[in-house]
Amino acid sequence: MAGRIPPEFIDDLLARTDIVDLIGSRIQLRKAGKDYQSRCPFHDEKTPSFTVSADKQFYHCFGCGAHGSAIGFLMEYDHLPFREAIEELAQRAGLEVPSSGDAVPAAPDQTPLFNLLEQAAILYRQQLREHAEASRAVDYLKGRGLTGEIAARYDLGFAPPGYDFLLSRLGAGAIERERLMTCGLIAEQDGRRYDRFRDRIMFPIRDRRGRVIGFGGRLLGEGKPKYLNSPETPVFHKGRELYGLFEAQQANRKLTSLLVVEGYLDVIALAQFGIGNAVATLGTATTPEHLQLLLRTVPELIFCFDGDRAGRAAAWKALETALPLVTGHQSIRFLFLPEGDDPDTLVRREGADGFAARLEKAFPLSEFLIDHLSEQAEMTSLDGRARLAQLARPLVERLPKGIYRDLLNKRLAELAGLADPSAARPTRARRRSHQPGQPGRLSLVAQAIALLLDYPELAAEAARADDDWRRTQSPGTDILAQLLETLAANPDMNKAILLERWREHPHFGYLQRLSVDPFLRDVAQGDVAAEFVGALSRLTEEVRRAERHRPFNQRSTADWSEEVRARAEHDAKLARVRRDET
Ligand code: UTP
Ligand code: MN
Repeated sequence: MAGRIPPEFIDDLLARTDIVDLIGSRIQLRKAGKDYQSRCPFHDEKTPSFTVSADKQFYHCFGCGAHGSAIGFLMEYDHLPFREAIEELAQRAGLEVPSSGDAVPAAPDQTPLFNLLEQAAILYRQQLREHAEASRAVDYLKGRGLTGEIAARYDLGFAPPGYDFLLSRLGAGAIERERLMTCGLIAEQDGRRYDRFRDRIMFPIRDRRGRVIGFGGRLLGEGKPKYLNSPETPVFHKGRELYGLFEAQQANRKLTSLLVVEGYLDVIALAQFGIGNAVATLGTATTPEHLQLLLRTVPELIFCFDGDRAGRAAAWKALETALPLVTGHQSIRFLFLPEGDDPDTLVRREGADGFAARLEKAFPLSEFLIDHLSEQAEMTSLDGRARLAQLARPLVERLPKGIYRDLLNKRLAELAGLADPSAARPTRARRRSHQPGQPGRLSLVAQAIALLLDYPELAAEAARADDDWRRTQSPGTDILAQLLETLAANPDMNKAILLERWREHPHFGYLQRLSVDPFLRDVAQGDVAAEFVGALSRLTEEVRRAERHRPFNQRSTADWSEEVRARAEHDAKLARVRRDET
């Protein structure tokens, strides 16, 4: 496979792709004026607010804010990584994806690692039956109430004591030993290599396709660390994988609900009692990737957490992570267990029915949110209730726009005894109406960038305008200048191509967002040029005014460091924005 894809190829590919065809091949589009519309595929809605522009080769949803090029659409809608999205488009266009000369090596074929991990799992499983010390392991598992059948279903194994069990069996040659290192099965200290997992019960961790990608290993008794997990490797990323998901899907092809618990043995104990839909994070908090994967798999999630402080804090974190993904479409609920219990102990004590009864009573996300915030607000006073609304607002704003968010706002308003806080905000009709000269809180440079990205043909206006704005110290000036340079060389470039060139840039997410600003404000076509030239000439004015007051060449170096600092702060803020977006 190929290395880095040359940017010119991406330009060319986008030039040959029609985003309307592409999206139209996946969802039904209807023509509306010069654009196309449909109900948004990325959030739940009744009336279409998803718009595809043939001119700009860009899509945008007025409801949830989703936007991007043909590449972006494939990445989002088909869940493809960047490279595969390019390959899909190339195939449609009948092109071969080239690799550039100074190619970064292509993603290597990981088959040998998967094979090695599978062999390790087989060896560990054998040891649970055959090793001289296996009885200790079997006794431990029995002591924890596990049946042989369930141990077999989850492929449990035993890593025997000693430092070279795997090393001697799977590490015959140098290449094999290197691979054992790469997949985390052996470790190295002071130049000596040894088995990472020793005298532990082994839990193979599988990906969704059932391939072993790593292991968890538990001590047979007390001690530290109680669990040892595979390190991050080329095939194992804790933030993306869930223990038990493959097994749950094997047991039930039509899963509709998943239970998210904390431990390996929680998953297994629940399965033993017939609750086969539990999965566990791997000693990490729930990540956005976890949530996306889970919600793509089933419409209902129930998080199980300890009832103690740490458990509630972890639950709140999961809620915050989930917010941007919550539409009325799915159900996300939270179950708090009695202190000192985990799903393993609870299901063994109360049985499947007892546990199921608790699941019935799990809090919906909205209730947990309100409950949690109410603890910080004095709900019996008017002030306290107003405070609840205030605390809730930033959280609710992270929900995708739509029915669910509206309902939650309404509920909060009722609780606070206030009018619907969202009612005061401009409706979509108003937001879309033309508001000349009111581009919101964007800086002049950001306004100019936003307009230019959305209307690349404006570059010609800049060529005619005064050039003094280039001396401004405002952040983003270099980006604006670079965009103009690109467009001077390629005057016919459309929005999608222009933006794709910035995909690798740390501010890509922000640039994408900026690019839909004029679209959101629905600036009339005839006014964009006026707004753009206006922004540039106001920048020029600012520069000149500043320079009149303090000639540029007389500024002290102290002034400069202040600017550098402000710029760095601004960049950090942008980076945060970007991080929050991803
Ligand atoms: P817990 O400490 O809650 O243990 O860790 P548990 O699952 O109830 O385990 P048992 O019942 O004592 O056997 C929950 C999860 O946190 C991770 C593991 O994934 C574990 O399943 N963990 C815990 C570690 O990675 N390392 C540790 O040392 C402890
Ligand atoms: Mn436990």
